[in-house]
Amino acid sequence: MRRKLVVGNWKMNGSRPANAELLAALVAARPFGCDVAVCVPFVFLGETAAQLAGSDLRWGAQDVSAQAEGAYTGEVSAAMLHECGCRYAIVGHSERRAYHAESDELVAAKAQAALGRGVTPIVCVGETLEQRDAGQTEAVVKRQLSAVIHTLAHCAAEMVVAYEPVWAIGTGRTATPEQAQAVHAVLRAQLQAATGHADRMRILYGGSVKADNARALFAMPDIDGGLIGGASLKAADFIAICRAGG
Ligand code: PGA
Repeated sequence: MRRKLVVGNWKMNGSRPANAELLAALVAARPFGCDVAVCVPFVFLGETAAQLAGSDLRWGAQDVSAQAEGAYTGEVSAAMLHECGCRYAIVGHSERRAYHAESDELVAAKAQAALGRGVTPIVCVGETLEQRDAGQTEAVVKRQLSAVIHTLAHCAAEMVVAYEPVWAIGTGRTATPEQAQAVHAVLRAQLQAATGHADRMRILYGGSVKADNARALFAMPDIDGGLIGGASLKAADFIAICRAGG
């Protein structure tokens, strides 16, 4: 039985006072009965670590450099994330693929850099509405995942995968539990063929997960938790979603 994982993706939101309040509420609401983490903007990692240290809540980043160190202005390395106590780094989020032109190969290199420093990559895959309407969903997510599987090779079973249909992110339009489950099953079969250990790998669903739809999504056999954007910014909503994972 895989333990569920619920991860908040704050994106470019937050402020010191708001974060302190949100994190204090999360700490006070434990235990959840599932693993819970927040992926925060880089500049807030130190304070997040300080506030969550000693709790069973984990934290992480929303991106990581593929490079180890050196003249890469603006980049943050996996070693730095490790030093800040990060358990996770999101890689290949559709917003980065779209706005920063991140290729499947770059996403794979970032996942490898993270794992190399003991930071678990949460690898995002997902199709656009056009791709879904053209019947390409399976081909797109398989292509995105296969680049990472190929690069991570024998370590591939260590990653977390997040299926996030682009048309469901921030739109209020969630995939139905059945739609999501169908893609998760495809991804798990692909992971099983590559690693032989897909039964212990976690595949999260992301895209307009809210307090009122989380339970039905998490009840699906291949949905092992969620990557939560907007609803992770409100303590009551995020806590309700975490409880749905318990
Ligand atoms: P959303 O974002 O929950 O606001 O749709 C999810 C994500 O982008 O990770």
